[in-house]
Amino acid sequence: MKVEFYGHVRQYHNIKSEIDKNIQTVLESGQYVMGPMLKKFEGELAAYHGTKYAVGTGNGTDSIWLALMAMGIGAGDEVITHPNTFFATAEAIWIAGATAVFVDCDPKTKCIDPAKIEAAITSKTKAIIPVHLYGQCADMPAIRKIADNHKLKIIEDNAQGIGASGKGFKIAELSDATSTSFIIQKNLGTFGDSGALVTNNPDLDAKVRKLRNHGSNARNVHSYGFNSRLDDLHAGILSAKLKHIDEYNDQRRKWAARYTAGLKGCSTIDLPIESPGYRHVFHLYVVETHKPEWRDQLVDFLVKNNVDAKTHYSIAIHQQAGYPWGKGARIAGSVANAERNAATCISLPMFPELTAEEVDYVIAKVVEWDKQTAGQGSAAKAAPAMA
Ligand SMILES: Cc1ncc(COP(=O)(O)O)c(C=O)c1O
Repeated sequence: MKVEFYGHVRQYHNIKSEIDKNIQTVLESGQYVMGPMLKKFEGELAAYHGTKYAVGTGNGTDSIWLALMAMGIGAGDEVITHPNTFFATAEAIWIAGATAVFVDCDPKTKCIDPAKIEAAITSKTKAIIPVHLYGQCADMPAIRKIADNHKLKIIEDNAQGIGASGKGFKIAELSDATSTSFIIQKNLGTFGDSGALVTNNPDLDAKVRKLRNHGSNARNVHSYGFNSRLDDLHAGILSAKLKHIDEYNDQRRKWAARYTAGLKGCSTIDLPIESPGYRHVFHLYVVETHKPEWRDQLVDFLVKNNVDAKTHYSIAIHQQAGYPWGKGARIAGSVANAERNAATCISLPMFPELTAEEVDYVIAKVVEWDKQTAGQGSAAKAAPAMA
């Protein structure tokens, strides 16, 4: 048995006729950039989120910095996020010319800890970027309250959580804008790069719409801008897949529940937690080893046993070599929870097209390692790393 980490080709085969039909439609239309398929998909994406607008972009990173730029946030401004996200969240802040301010994550959800945000706010703070990490929503009501008190903007980084929801709130409901990424490994992924921004703010939509297209929304008429568009071929692929996103996420939740049931007796790892009332869409199923030295041991054991396990993200942003590369950056308080997450995280294979046999094989291998490791001494958690 070999268990892959991704199931892109299986997914393609399952809905090949729907994807191929849309690709054919675009090819025959003769309009491949800013054409009718993009317009159709933008409408579908806005409807899915319940927002007034959706604007396609070249990728998820661009969606964030285009939003920051459209909000007038840049040099001299601070933007708060957390350091145990994918690098691109901070990268986008730096591309916009702003200073990235890192606060700790919540030890349970791994999303930004709202209780740590207020102490990080200065007169320069202009925005907060919560990330719906691994597919679970950050605590948006608490973050909205802080943003309102301090007149800050919120951009949700929803590269990983399309289709997720929180207790009594939906994604994009409590923010100024929500970015997403459609790179293939995401829950809604195309065969290449692209992204989008959804918002209810007409001014923001209009600005990003122009910025992504060389500062233009009419032929030969330009202002300052960039080339960051979502091609129609990708829009067609995404349009076909969007129709299945809820069933795909349900399937991910089913495999997550199976992992959790099979692994709950393990004494050397912690399992992911779904906050009560939240719909976690398990972009990733991430366990944490009780001791940092066990992370790579477990990954190696799984890989040797034909299970493709990975880590997300094993080097926190502020721990990357060369940080902060001459860019504006500040660490606000201890980020020990984020550092512990980086030091101990392991992602098990997770995609809708897994089979029960594959999931059970992964469970059996993790349990085997757990028994061996627990037998070697204390499985108790090591003290958290110091920031
Ligand atoms: C949390 C997060 N933010 C931003 C991005 C950037 O998206 P992209 O790769 O489409 O630029 C990604 C994924 O790549 C991500 O996981």
